[in-house]
Amino acid sequence: MAPNKSPGSGYVVVEFKLAAPRPHSNLRPPRNSQEMRVLIIAGVLLVIAAAAYSHSIPRAGCAISINQNLPDPQALVINPQGTFDIFGFFLPQSGDIVTFDVGQEVLFACPGATLNVTGTAELLANCVDGTTFQQADGTQHDFSQLGCTKLPFHTYQDTGRLCGRPDQIYPIYAFGFELSNGDFYNLYEVCFDPANGNTRYSVFTQTPEIRGYQSGYPRPSSFIQGPFYYNGFDIYQAYTRDNQTAAIANIVGSMDLALQYVNQSFDSSFYLARGHLAAKADYVYGAHQRATFWYLNVAPQWQTFNEANWAQLEYDCRTYAGQRSSPLKVFTGTHGQSVLPDINGDLQPLYLGLDPNNNAIVHVPEIFWKVLYDPQTQEGVAFVGSNNPYLENPPGFIKCTDVCDQLTWLLWDPKNVTSGLSYCCEVNELAQTILEIPELTVSGLLT
Ligand SMILES: *[C@@H]1O[C@H](CO)[C@@H](O)[C@H](O)[C@H]1NC(C)=O
Ligand SMILES: *[C@@H]1O[C@H](CO)[C@@H](O)[C@H](O)[C@H]1NC(C)=O
Ligand SMILES: *[C@@H]1O[C@H](CO)[C@@H](O)[C@H](O)[C@H]1NC(C)=O
Ligand SMILES: *[C@@H]1O[C@H](CO)[C@@H](O)[C@H](O)[C@H]1NC(C)=O
Repeated sequence: MAPNKSPGSGYVVVEFKLAAPRPHSNLRPPRNSQEMRVLIIAGVLLVIAAAAYSHSIPRAGCAISINQNLPDPQALVINPQGTFDIFGFFLPQSGDIVTFDVGQEVLFACPGATLNVTGTAELLANCVDGTTFQQADGTQHDFSQLGCTKLPFHTYQDTGRLCGRPDQIYPIYAFGFELSNGDFYNLYEVCFDPANGNTRYSVFTQTPEIRGYQSGYPRPSSFIQGPFYYNGFDIYQAYTRDNQTAAIANIVGSMDLALQYVNQSFDSSFYLARGHLAAKADYVYGAHQRATFWYLNVAPQWQTFNEANWAQLEYDCRTYAGQRSSPLKVFTGTHGQSVLPDINGDLQPLYLGLDPNNNAIVHVPEIFWKVLYDPQTQEGVAFVGSNNPYLENPPGFIKCTDVCDQLTWLLWDPKNVTSGLSYCCEVNELAQTILEIPELTVSGLLT
């Protein structure tokens, strides 16, 4: 692990064993000024030491590093006092170090599997110290042993709520983990248009603790389709390079032309990738990162854009969120349909599939957008990226007054059409054009 990726992770072993400064009540009163001076110096040193260490490790207890101490396969590390969302998990307070008070109760959970040490799906244990946790009967385990026989199984629920302006007719699905008692931990929600097979947006809460995320965690071998598309539709197949080329050939009326748009060489980025909405790296734990691999949480995105301006935007948003003290709501969605010239030069809308009535489904979006929103201050900012490396009329793509010059933290290359022409907007202004942006009360620009 590169130490610079997770500041603080190198401190764990030494720091969590330092006891906090104790109250002086059991010291006898000082007898003379000499002793007084020694005490004052000692006190000053104590304050300095406390200040130096307090932001990382406040008190004795347990501490684990997200990048060094998680067993594989890892269990979910749940705070039984938390809520049924991202705040239901212990998150790293400093760098990638998660600390627990002595006696703190932790629920280790392996939905769809069992803990190796107990053979049960869940285990409640208390922090003893260091990396030692103790179950109710007194048996102690090192954190490295508290793993699962298989990776925690992630699933979805129909929330019963609806979304979509103006008519609120689309279902909202929640993705996350379900425990044996039915408790569901919601990691993100998706507003889905079933008729078109398109996701309007995904939304999740980004916490500042993302700075300690588990880096380089392996991707799963596949995305999950679920029951969301019509019977018999294989969305995995629809995304393969062969099939997207065939679909585009059909749309533009020429296989030769399609082969110019979708490059068949595997080292080329001119193809439609499964572009994540809530991103893999937007979650601290590897088990959570894997829960983003649902087709409902992706849309066809040119890899030239996915790997360039979109990746940079995601990275910059995480860095920005990691420098704040309060969480952000992050909405990421799609809009419109990308077009390419057919053999007659007429612009044709792109899609990857057809439904049984020959209607286009899984549209290739014209736009990927992202809104960061601070629910406390009601400040928000929106980002727009063009999902078309062949965009012909860049000025026609701009749908708001660009406010990127008010943000200092974006490192993308926004004018580069291949990387995905991009800009920034006031949320309210963009929401007038992009109805996929849900209704939000936005009182100012989040910078
Ligand atoms: C738990 O069991 C699985 C499956 O047998 C194994 O792959 C894994 O290494 C075990 N984990 C620990 C921490 O012992
Ligand atoms: C994808 O291609 C395979 C093999 O060419 C074909 O059998 C299948 O019907 C195609 N699927 C779609 C969704 O186009
Ligand atoms: C496809 O990509 C390869 C490798 O990047 C490149 O050499 C080739 O010219 C491209 N083909 C087309 C039709 O653009
Ligand atoms: C645009 O970005 C691509 C890489 O995504 C790069 O190869 C190209 O040189 C850039 N074009 C300009 C005009 O900067």
